[in-house]
Amino acid sequence: MIVRGVLAGACFALLLGGCSNEKIDPSPSQEHVAKDEEKASPVFAISHRGASAYAPEHTFASYEMAENVKADYLEIDLQMTKDGKLVAMHDTTVDRTTNGTGKVKDMTLAQIKKLDAGSWFNETHSDESKLMYEGLKVPTLEEIFQRYGKKANYYIETKSPNLYPGMEEELLRLIDNYQLQEEEHGVPRIIVQSFSKKSLQNIHEKDPDLPLIQLISYREPAKISDQALSEIKGYADGIGMDYRMIDKPYIQKVRKAGLLVHPYTVNDESDMIRLIEWGADGMFTNQPDLLKKVKRNLERES
Ligand code: G3P
Ligand code: CA
Repeated sequence: MIVRGVLAGACFALLLGGCSNEKIDPSPSQEHVAKDEEKASPVFAISHRGASAYAPEHTFASYEMAENVKADYLEIDLQMTKDGKLVAMHDTTVDRTTNGTGKVKDMTLAQIKKLDAGSWFNETHSDESKLMYEGLKVPTLEEIFQRYGKKANYYIETKSPNLYPGMEEELLRLIDNYQLQEEEHGVPRIIVQSFSKKSLQNIHEKDPDLPLIQLISYREPAKISDQALSEIKGYADGIGMDYRMIDKPYIQKVRKAGLLVHPYTVNDESDMIRLIEWGADGMFTNQPDLLKKVKRNLERES
């Protein structure tokens, strides 16, 4: 596991300006970062399902846009096929984001590869529709690693891991095969997130150095106890939650405990600015270009 100070310090010199593939100054210590509440944090732009406001989520069109605007991380939701392949898809069924129907776990990769994962977007997002989106394929995690390798950073979610025995092991195998465990200038190439504590703990047992984020689903304004923070710190590096459920004291409490705060899914400029001012360490967004612009503007003003 890495500590908050390493992540926070990794692109400290860049402050709000972004971290991908750029030279970064040595990290301040965790203690130093934790004590200095006045210092600006780096803010990771985590491109949610790619740049999914502009292109069909979890397709190479969407990832390519995220990479083009230099998002810090590509967010990838994982499901697993009947024949054990990890594919990038948010839902447990193919119904919403392809022209097919059925559960991913009941379909082979060959069956999923026959589906059109782009046309639905043209039908539901007329402002952003493009002919080239028709017929796009569902990518496997391996294809994503093959395409971007060490040129991208990946923020991967184990989705519904209870449906997919062996999901974590397959994820770790691919990370190992493509040698993506290393950090570059202190910025982790891979972060793994999940709503499932069991899934994260399984990964932590097998690879204690892999940075993990515990996602929490709040149904009312978020509160978190010291005990919960201490438990999460035993295996994870931070927490992700719906940005609409948190306030400044919540963020301060989590950060003070030495954990990162990565709210989702923030697509409004004023929300982005407020969360940065409150101390969020990064955020998921469908519009990484907007977050990059917000960060640039804040940096200019500081
Ligand atoms: O992973 C953070 C955020 O993406 C969680 O929500 O439903 O979009 O995966 P969801
Ligand atoms: Ca997700």
